[in-house]
Amino acid sequence: MATKMKIGVLSAGGDCPGINSAIHWLVYSALDKDLVPRRGLMFEVIGILDGWRGLIELRSEKKESLRRWTMKLDTNLVRTWDRYGGTRLGTTRINPFDPKNDKSQNIVENYKKLGLEALVVIGGFDNLGVAYKLHREGLKVVGIPKTIDKDLSETDYTLGFDSAVNIITSDVDRIRITAGSHSRIFVVECMGRKAGWLALEAGEASGAPIVLIPEHDFLIERVIDLLERRRKQGHRYSIILISEGAKPRGMEEIHERRGRDGFGHYYLGGVGGFLAEEIEKNSDMEVRYVALRHLQRGGAPTAYDRRMGRKFGIAAIDMIVNEDFGRMVSLKHGEITTVPLKKALEKLNLVDVEKFYNTLNYRSLDQIL
Ligand code: F6P
Repeated sequence: MATKMKIGVLSAGGDCPGINSAIHWLVYSALDKDLVPRRGLMFEVIGILDGWRGLIELRSEKKESLRRWTMKLDTNLVRTWDRYGGTRLGTTRINPFDPKNDKSQNIVENYKKLGLEALVVIGGFDNLGVAYKLHREGLKVVGIPKTIDKDLSETDYTLGFDSAVNIITSDVDRIRITAGSHSRIFVVECMGRKAGWLALEAGEASGAPIVLIPEHDFLIERVIDLLERRRKQGHRYSIILISEGAKPRGMEEIHERRGRDGFGHYYLGGVGGFLAEEIEKNSDMEVRYVALRHLQRGGAPTAYDRRMGRKFGIAAIDMIVNEDFGRMVSLKHGEITTVPLKKALEKLNLVDVEKFYNTLNYRSLDQIL
C-alpha cells in the first residue's frame, strides 16, 4: 500500500517564463500512477496562490479562503501551462520575515493546517532565502531556482534567463533598424539588478558594441570615445546595452522613486536615461534611450526555459521522494543535481570581470579588441 503525501507548490518574487513549465512537469511527475509502486508514495499537489501571501492570508477553516488562496493541481488543469510565461499561481514580493511585520508563523501554522508534508518554492535569491529560514523552522522545503537575473550561486541556470536574453536580443534587432535610419545612438537599458549577465549575454547575442554592467563602473568619457571611434570607422549608429545596476565611476546606482521592496532592495532604473543625456551634452551625437523594463519578463518561454522547467520540476519531486530537503535543484556542467540552499545563499553570482569582461572596450571579453 502506497502512503499518501500532500505537498504544496508556490512561486514567489518576480515572475518569469519557465515557472509554469516547472509546475506543469512537477504535477505530471507527482501524479504519474506508474511511479507509485516504485516510490511507495501517492501525491496530492496543492498550488498556493500569490506566493507567501497565500500562506499568510489563508484561513483554512473557511471554504472561500481555501478557494481564494489554494488550488488543487492535477494534470488536466496544468496540461497547457508549460507553454505560457508568467506564473499561473500568481506571485508577490512579500518578505514574511520582515522584522517590522513578521508573518512567518502564519506560514508555519498554515503549512500544518493544510496537512502539507513538503513545500516546493520556485524563487530567486530572496525567496529561496525565506524558504531556507522556514526549513530551519521545521518545514520540509525544496527550491527551484528562477530569476531572469541569473544571480543565484551554485547553479549554472535559473529559469527565465534564456527567455529574457532572447527578448533583449530581438528588441536590439528592432532598435538597430530605426537607429540606422536616423544615424542615432541608442542606449538600451535592461534588467539584472546587481548582476550583469543579462546585458553581457544579450550583448553577445545581439552584437551590441558597448555593454555596461554593474560589476565594472564605467567612465562617461570613455563611452563617448568608443562611440566616436566607431563613427570614424564608418558606423552610422551604435547601440549601448546598459544594465539597470551599472553606474558611472564615483556615482551610486540610479533608483526609481518607488523606494525599496519587501527585502530592502531599491528598485533600479534610469541609468540609461542619465547616460543618454550625458552623451548628448558632451558630444554632437543624437541619442535616444529605451528601457526594456518588464517587457523582458513577458511572453512565452523559449524552448530552453520549457526544457529546464521540465527538468527542474521533475527533479523537485525526486528530491521529495528522496527526502532531500533544505536543498535546491541545480544545473551544473550540463547535469541536474541538488545543492544545499545554505550554500546557494552565501553570495550572489556576479560576472567575473577578469574572465568575461573587456574593461577597455566595455564589452564581452570574447570580442576582437
Ligand atoms: O529580479 C528580477 C527583476 O526583474 C530585476 O531584474 C528587476 O530589477 C526587478 O525584478 C523588478 O522588480 P518588479 O517586477 O517588482 O518591478
